[in-house]
Amino acid sequence: MTSYALLGWLLLLLLLQFSCLLAWQDYKDYKVFELQPEDDDQVQLLRQLFWQQPHWDFLGSRLSYNESGYRVLVAPNQAESLVKQLQTHMIEYQLLSDDLSQLVKAQREDNQRNKARFTLPFIDVIGAFYTHTEINEYLDSLPQRYPQRALVKQFGWSYERRPLKLLTINNGDGRANKPVIFIDAAMHAREWIAPSLALYIIQQLLDNYAENEQLLKDYDWVIMPVVNADGYEFSHTDSRYWRKNRKPTWDPENIGTDLNRNFGYMWGLDEGASPDPSNETYRGEHAFDQPESQVVRDVLLHYSDRLSFYLSLHSYGNYLLLPWGHTSSFPSNYLDMMQVADAGAMAILQATNGIYSYGSGYHLMYSTSGDSTDYAVGVANATVAITMELPAGGFLGFDPWISHIEGIVTESWVGVRAMALEVEKLDQAKAKKKLISIN
Ligand SMILES: *[C@@H]1O[C@H](CO)[C@@H](O)[C@H](O)[C@H]1NC(C)=O
Ligand SMILES: *[C@@H]1O[C@H](CO)[C@@H](O)[C@H](O)[C@H]1NC(C)=O
Ligand SMILES: *[C@@H]1O[C@H](CO)[C@@H](O)[C@H](O)[C@H]1NC(C)=O
Ligand SMILES: [Zn+2]
Repeated sequence: MTSYALLGWLLLLLLLQFSCLLAWQDYKDYKVFELQPEDDDQVQLLRQLFWQQPHWDFLGSRLSYNESGYRVLVAPNQAESLVKQLQTHMIEYQLLSDDLSQLVKAQREDNQRNKARFTLPFIDVIGAFYTHTEINEYLDSLPQRYPQRALVKQFGWSYERRPLKLLTINNGDGRANKPVIFIDAAMHAREWIAPSLALYIIQQLLDNYAENEQLLKDYDWVIMPVVNADGYEFSHTDSRYWRKNRKPTWDPENIGTDLNRNFGYMWGLDEGASPDPSNETYRGEHAFDQPESQVVRDVLLHYSDRLSFYLSLHSYGNYLLLPWGHTSSFPSNYLDMMQVADAGAMAILQATNGIYSYGSGYHLMYSTSGDSTDYAVGVANATVAITMELPAGGFLGFDPWISHIEGIVTESWVGVRAMALEVEKLDQAKAKKKLISIN
């Protein structure tokens, strides 16, 4: 088995199992180990051990392809048996953290310290992670600074009645109904780097307009930095690694639905999402029974007759995932989408040596049903739809340090920019073809 495939496999375990085991704990005395298997035999052995031990949590650490270590998170009472197994099989390991709650606390304090340097609505995107409330305040301040170019719209409310806002950005030339590039982020609460990138994109298009003029010439950009507002706030205040939203389910033991399994295209298939509220990929009782996925649906449908590009920002893993997620077959314009993903991945490779994998979600990762990009292409007629899994950071992948924000968002912007320009190229080629066929 190649190490790439193994990493993908570990990531799968991580995404599906990770915080269902942890959701309500404050990570007191949770241990993080890094394992260094020496050869394929040891890798196989680890695989076996992990299937047998559902309480050991694998954190596919894919900081880059250079990293060979695999991280494991275990509850305090599991640490001893893990160490025993590793020693028995002579697998090298290192204890990275003896008490994960210390890391969560340290990062929280780091963030508070950094934020103290700014006064809302002015923020430094690369200087801290911001709450949904702070981000909304920042968004609300932009139309004043850019009256011709920025407009805040509210499409609805979260379950806990937080206003769900998005920003539309244009170049102020007064031309209406241009094709749209729609970007959303933080459908999953703990993926904090995603809103950071959304904010960075906003600043590039507004504050750094001279350099990015071309991107707005024939396109309007619509940006929603936080979809899962309640879950995201909860990850700031309570449980750092929370993923789902915060609406109660029929099961009093379990709160939250995976918004990215709640969309109404091929929702409810046997594979690719869970009917069980305790699962991290719980799909809800019906498609769109969650207010936050309804809002994204409404935005997609609102712009559906001119939606050139839908980009959903997630973390982590360095993937550009295309539809379909629910089936092994491909949408009709799959090759166009591959061309866009390829442009993004190559631009990043050239800029930083960062390596992205790209292809259909089903083939690259695992099946997903009811995700937002499948809906965007299957129902809302988006020409191109991509889920971008940003690079990992920090201890568990979801928790980069503030000092890493700049590196990640500047690299990612190179990719987003290149993808947008490729979409433009495709649209132009299509328009030309149409013209020729009319002639
Ligand atoms: C891997 O590490 C080598 C040596 O440290 C470095 O030159 C190279 O750029 C790294 N590659 C990636 C993809 O990070
Ligand atoms: C959660 O649901 C997924 C999708 O149905 C399934 O593959 C996975 O095994 C479930 N995880 C747990 C811990 O039950
Ligand atoms: C998407 O395109 C199909 C086929 O042209 C059309 O029937 C459908 O109404 C469109 N969907 C939306 C949401 O506009
Ligand atoms: Zn995600």
